[in-house]
Amino acid sequence: METVVSGMRPTGNLHLGNYFGAARNFVRMQDEFNCFFFIADYHSLTTHPKPEALHNSVKQVLAEYIACGVDPEKTTLYIQSDVPEIPELYLLFNMLAYKGELERSTTYKDKVSKQPDNINAGLLTYPVLMAVDIVIHKATKVPVGKDQEQHLEMTRNFAKRFNHIYGQDYFPEPTAFNYTDELVKIPGLDGSGKMGKSEGEGNAVFLIDEPDVIRKKVMKAVTDSGPTEMHQEKPEAIRNLFTLMESVSAPETIERFDQDYNNCTIRYGDLKKQLAEDMINFTTPIRDKIKTIAADESYLRKVVNMGAEKARESASKTLKDVREIIGLKSF
Ligand code: TRP
Repeated sequence: METVVSGMRPTGNLHLGNYFGAARNFVRMQDEFNCFFFIADYHSLTTHPKPEALHNSVKQVLAEYIACGVDPEKTTLYIQSDVPEIPELYLLFNMLAYKGELERSTTYKDKVSKQPDNINAGLLTYPVLMAVDIVIHKATKVPVGKDQEQHLEMTRNFAKRFNHIYGQDYFPEPTAFNYTDELVKIPGLDGSGKMGKSEGEGNAVFLIDEPDVIRKKVMKAVTDSGPTEMHQEKPEAIRNLFTLMESVSAPETIERFDQDYNNCTIRYGDLKKQLAEDMINFTTPIRDKIKTIAADESYLRKVVNMGAEKARESASKTLKDVREIIGLKSF
């Protein structure tokens, strides 16, 4: 069975876009592959989060993925920093990564311009750590989006280089994987682009948003002055509202508003009210689960301990081989 690895940075709560993207992908993969999903807490240290905030975000993200259906019995679900084999392999892989190629990474260049006061070495070697996350389980599939393609390319290069230098066919070359039939892009509420937490306040609907918050956000969504001709093509902002409806509303509801649009009788206020209520119905059971799970410290402790044990079992095998291959043999 093929092995899948993916990491989630503990930065902020999951929104509907994450639900219909990563989370749903994970839930489907866990039935088909040998999956390793982890919270990438080491990766988040590049921006020096406050210790208390870091711990809370790790816990929250973990609870949210479990509430979305990621099953710790089916997957190996763990915290990156619970696996000491990862930093050890990271040290070894740093010897394979060239300064020049790391400096050419677009995410690195991006960070250099965004946080010029904190261009630390961890930022430069972020792709090495990510590569190690993947190769340490000898994974072949990585469910990530386009923004991570360059990191994956670097992962393949490091894996190839290791194999070449040591004359072994040891590490496989992982590629991005997503279920194409499920790639729904969830748009944001601001009329353009996709849902994202960095796109500004009110653009994203989070799974933990209370009903009132959802109503406020949806009612503020961007619209226009309405159609003036029958069967007029929908502008982007309106199309986005319909796309959002497609993810949470009943087909009849969408059909009805679509007809109203085509007849020029649509009232955006009604559409938004409906959309808000449907989002609330959709997110309420998930939000309840998140709260229950996040409050259950002993359950979470059990989950992470089990995850760490399974992840370390897999990682330590790789590390043992790698040390041997490199010549770090025991006496
Ligand atoms: N870099 C990824 C992101 O920003 C997170 C990540 C870390 C990751 N390690 C990984 C993703 C390994 C996939 C596999 O989203």
